Amino acid sequence: MIIAIDGPAGSGKSSVAKIIAGKLQFRHINTGAMYRAVALQAGRLSRDLGDEEAIAEVALNQSIQFVPGPKGQTVVVDGEDVTRLLRSKTVDQDAAIVASLGKVREILVAKQRDMGKSGSIVMEGRDIGTVVFPQAERKFFLDATPEERGKRRFQELQAKNQEIDVDTIVEQIRQRDEKDRNREVSPLIRAEDAIYIDTTNFKLEEVVDQILESIEQVPIKIINRK
Ligand code: DC
Repeated sequence: MIIAIDGPAGSGKSSVAKIIAGKLQFRHINTGAMYRAVALQAGRLSRDLGDEEAIAEVALNQSIQFVPGPKGQTVVVDGEDVTRLLRSKTVDQDAAIVASLGKVREILVAKQRDMGKSGSIVMEGRDIGTVVFPQAERKFFLDATPEERGKRRFQELQAKNQEIDVDTIVEQIRQRDEKDRNREVSPLIRAEDAIYIDTTNFKLEEVVDQILESIEQVPIKIINRK
């Protein structure tokens, strides 16, 4: 079974996907980390982000693995644990540019399909239910207001002692939404057959429970209805 979870930044996809994958003993693939890893490497190699061929080459030559560990999953790129480096502000911004390049998407989508071949996978991103696995047995689209998503990100950064005000974060989230939803290739849209969950007023565990209930109890035909 392939479980596709899509949604905008801060909608709770990663936290939810991690827990669901753990409970079902499925692999968890965070495709955002793949775009981030390309952005990180392109920066290290001083590649011009406007040069689609050069960035596609970075994507093609990069080997990426999601390695489960006691403290959660780590992202290993060409043998190096880059998990923390992927969360920097520069990578945040550069990944959105990288993700708008058609050739890069083609390469990463092919890698993602390959990872899903053996099934038993929870894959999260922006285009999993629409482009990567339109045939996924279960699809969810998580959402929340920009204010709530900004608040969540603010709390995350505060926990890491990073100083930033909440209004700036909400504005950054709006700008990233704008880029993700309006880009020409594979924009962020909800698959018609995805279950829409507005997480604004739900706790993480409540969202997880809703998803697990849909996965375990409801026949495919019924959950596919809007
Ligand atoms: O989920 P995230 O913030 O880590 O994603 C990083 C960037 O990659 C973000 O700009 C959206 C983009 N992305 C994408 O276009 N398609 C995906 N499947 C996953 C992420």
